[in-house]
Amino acid sequence: MTHLPFAELHLHIEGTLEPELVMELARRNGVALPYDDVGELRAAYDFTDLQSFLDLYYANMAVLRTRQDFADMTAAYLARAATAGVRHAEIMFDPQAHLVRGVPLEVAVEGIASVLATSEDDHGVSTLLIAAFLRDRPEAEALDVLDGLLGMGAPIAGVGLDSAEIGHPPAKFARLFARARAAGLHLVAHAGEEGPAAYVTEALDVLGVERIDHGIRALDDDALVSRLVAEQVPLTVCPLSNVALRAVGTLAEHPVVAMLERGLNVSVHSDDPAYFGGYLDDNLDALTTAVGLTRAHRVRLAENSLRASFLPAGRRDALL
Ligand code: HPA
Ligand code: ZN
Repeated sequence: MTHLPFAELHLHIEGTLEPELVMELARRNGVALPYDDVGELRAAYDFTDLQSFLDLYYANMAVLRTRQDFADMTAAYLARAATAGVRHAEIMFDPQAHLVRGVPLEVAVEGIASVLATSEDDHGVSTLLIAAFLRDRPEAEALDVLDGLLGMGAPIAGVGLDSAEIGHPPAKFARLFARARAAGLHLVAHAGEEGPAAYVTEALDVLGVERIDHGIRALDDDALVSRLVAEQVPLTVCPLSNVALRAVGTLAEHPVVAMLERGLNVSVHSDDPAYFGGYLDDNLDALTTAVGLTRAHRVRLAENSLRASFLPAGRRDALL
């Protein structure tokens, strides 16, 4: 089947670590895991909320030790994304999650970036890299890491904000985002995944983000929905993720089509595809069955994704 050209805008590269690759890297690096085989690891992918996922997501990162490990993970993602119709990907990584394990910034950045540098030639997928900061850690640490990334000339296009949301409002990172903005970086943040609609407002007004990752809790606040429609703020919605982490009961109840029909600027993405049941095409196919996503909806989602990207106008218009 031929695919419409999509931009993948909400993807954590560490969330593309498939169980088979986790086991292979564990063997390669002599890392002991509490699972004897891929089946036992897969059985652990039964989440009750965001934190229960994050616990496993961070634990599995123990297998990422060398530049080659980061490069292999990134190459596997790009090969799979290309088959899903992804022609451009803005990829988040979590530098702090590696630093706290003793993996230097350079190892993660250079391993990932070495593969992104040739992604268009190798896979027909242009790419940008976004450094995501962990909101359940102190802002002072994030500021040091941002300075480290800027100091080493890391090829990042933007910064994001992820990890455990409730109790960690966007305003906690006002200085971080001001510094990133001054450095000329694009700004995005997770908001309204598990946290309240007020966090979406705060991400826009205090951090000045250009896109909201998730944003589904905005639906609890009609005035905010009106604002998001009027300002056409991009919302990068991840249906399979929302169901896996129980932010939404079932896919049949997922609001993404209703959001589209209300005039919100939504697009569909895969978040952590190795953990939540699939890549961009899997999300679209599942929505087709569960909520009757039509070809016209797909076209709108594809166009929204490209328009919400940070692509230069030339390539964006060529893909549209
Ligand atoms: N939410 C918050 N933090 C994350 C996620 C997510 O879905 N995936 C990886 N880090
Ligand atoms: Zn996410």
